[in-house]
Formats: sequence, structure tokens, C-alpha cells
Amino acid sequence: MARPDEATLERLRREAVLARERSYAPYSKFLVGAAVLSRSGKVYRGQNVENASYGLGVCAERTAIFAMVAAGEVAIDAIAVATQAKKIVGPCGACRQVIREFGPDAIVTLVTTSGQKETLSLRELLPRDFGPGDLGFPEPSR
Ligand code: THU
Repeated sequence: MARPDEATLERLRREAVLARERSYAPYSKFLVGAAVLSRSGKVYRGQNVENASYGLGVCAERTAIFAMVAAGEVAIDAIAVATQAKKIVGPCGACRQVIREFGPDAIVTLVTTSGQKETLSLRELLPRDFGPGDLGFPEPSR
């Protein structure tokens, strides 16, 4: 997989900002949007969805990734995450693990609504990762 170029990452960040507008976060009021760039080149959006039963909420990243899987794709080249935080925040630990399942080499690009941005790799965000190999399974061909 070639690293997506900066123009592609910028488009993906804009998609994440748009996805964030559909966030359902009446409890935390912390609106998050995500956009996944799949291996086919399609973009899948997601946003956090909270629940009155707090523990049932789901993060934006997983909503976007599961939309990709529902569409029949299983390889992530890049994911953008948009928040309103004062400084850049990375995906939560659970989402890092879910990104890893489909994109061990994924690029993760982060943006805030005030325009700050930072791009890292999933490997930087999740060193010493746990994956299929640790269960004796081969890495799926993506
Ligand atoms: N959240 C995400 O959507 N992604 C993250 O990576 C961090 C947290 C959501 C979950 C919850 O709805 C709100 O942000 C506050 O934790």
C-alpha cells in the first residue's frame, strides 16, 4: 500500500469533519466524526453514537469501520478523525485495536474543528500490537 498523498488525506479530514455533524452525543457533548479510506478508494463516514445507557455508546471510528465492513470491504488505507478538542486527540485504545484489525499499516490523520492537524501511523499509535498472528492465524490478505 502506498501512503495516501497529502491532498487525499486533506479530503479525508474534510469528510471526517462532515461526518461529525451527524454525531449523536447529547450526554458527553463531545462530537466526533471519522472517515475511512478503504483499499478500493471509497470513503466511509461514521460518527459517535451515544445512549442513555452510557456504556452502549460507540465511537466514530468504529461506526465508520463497521460501515466499511458492511459494504464488503476489509482493508483500511487511512482513517481521519475530527474532534472539537482544544488540542489534537488520538483515537481511544479500543478503536486503535479495531483499526489494526483492518489496517495494520493504516495512516491515521487527526483534525480539530479549529483546524489543527496531525498525521501518524497506526503502528506509532499501537506499538506491540495484538493481531491474528498471536492467535496462530495468518494475517489476512488485504
Ligand atoms: N469518542 C470517539 O468517538 N472516538 C474516540 O476516539 C474517543 C471518544 C467518543 C465516545 C463518546 O461518545 C465521546 O467521544 C466522549 O468520550
